[in-house]
Amino acid sequence: MGQRVMNGKHILITGGTSGIGLASAAVLSGMGASVIIVGRDAGRVAQAQATIKARSGAATPAYLCDFASLAAVRQLADQVLHDVPKLDVLINNAGAVFARRTLTSDGLEATFAVNHLAPFLLTQLLLPRLKESAPSRIVTVASGRHAHGTMDFDDLGFTRGYQILRAYARSKLANVLFSSEQARRLVGTRVTSNSVHPGRVATNIWAGAPEWTKPLIRLWLSRTFITVEEGAAPVIALASRPDLDQVTGQYFNRHEAAAPSGVAQDWDVAARLWRESERLVLNSEVWR
Ligand SMILES: NC(=O)c1ccc[n+]([C@@H]2O[C@H](COP(=O)([O-])OP(=O)(O)OC[C@H]3O[C@@H](n4cnc5c(N)ncnc54)[C@H](OP(=O)(O)O)[C@@H]3O)[C@@H](O)[C@H]2O)c1
Repeated sequence: MGQRVMNGKHILITGGTSGIGLASAAVLSGMGASVIIVGRDAGRVAQAQATIKARSGAATPAYLCDFASLAAVRQLADQVLHDVPKLDVLINNAGAVFARRTLTSDGLEATFAVNHLAPFLLTQLLLPRLKESAPSRIVTVASGRHAHGTMDFDDLGFTRGYQILRAYARSKLANVLFSSEQARRLVGTRVTSNSVHPGRVATNIWAGAPEWTKPLIRLWLSRTFITVEEGAAPVIALASRPDLDQVTGQYFNRHEAAAPSGVAQDWDVAARLWRESERLVLNSEVWR
């Protein structure tokens, strides 16, 4: 690092208060980018801003938005479109898990809503700015766990058989399908869309897991997981590497483009998910 190769680039990172998002924000700021973070809690946002300042010397504007509310996502997009004249990179990173099936204020299953529908909606609303700023990039932080995901269009919200890991895997499969379908819809615009598995990273992502599993998770994290800085590296690369300027529609397993699961490569499933996502963001209240 040390070189300010991202001078003049404007980057919006969701989930910038913790883990991979915070580490990416600090490094990209240090590379000279104007980074804006999105968080849902004012205290944690202020703490993240102080951390980024301490690591990079840069001041980081921030927005508050709880991704469990589609109205809040719309408000966020309005503010960004009003305040930010150029957007070179959107990093869809915010994510969470829920021990029990939880409905958002929109009546949507929370894992699917926070991890997929919120970034889906945010991306569509920010597309005009990304297109005006082209060449520009959308980076969606998915997960290798997408490979365990299924896409049951008759019960996307798990009214039957909710299980924390199944819901998480479905939301991450949705990230991969969304990202590649988005790329197909952006052909010719010089806006790229790629998704990435950052590796198994020791972060707060399992904060929403059942209490009784937490000692096991802590042990698991300490033994097999990589550091937050290592996990952020492929996200930072997708946001910044000049040789990836025209690479689009790919799933990256850390630094390498890789084939995602079979379902994740199914264009019909991707197209159907797109239609369902449009329907759900326009007409929530459907899973109550
Ligand atoms: N860690 C891994 O092993 C791993 C592996 C593969 C993929 N990923 C993906 O990496 C991304 C980042 O996760 P992480 O591991 O860095 O976990 P993390 O440390 O828990 O960070 C998650 C971020 O998302 C934010 N967030 C959660 N729920 C939100 C909501 N309702 N509204 C707005 N923001 C919300 C969190 O905000 P707060 O600070 O307010 O909680 C935090 O900033 C996620 O998409 C995750 O699925 C992680």
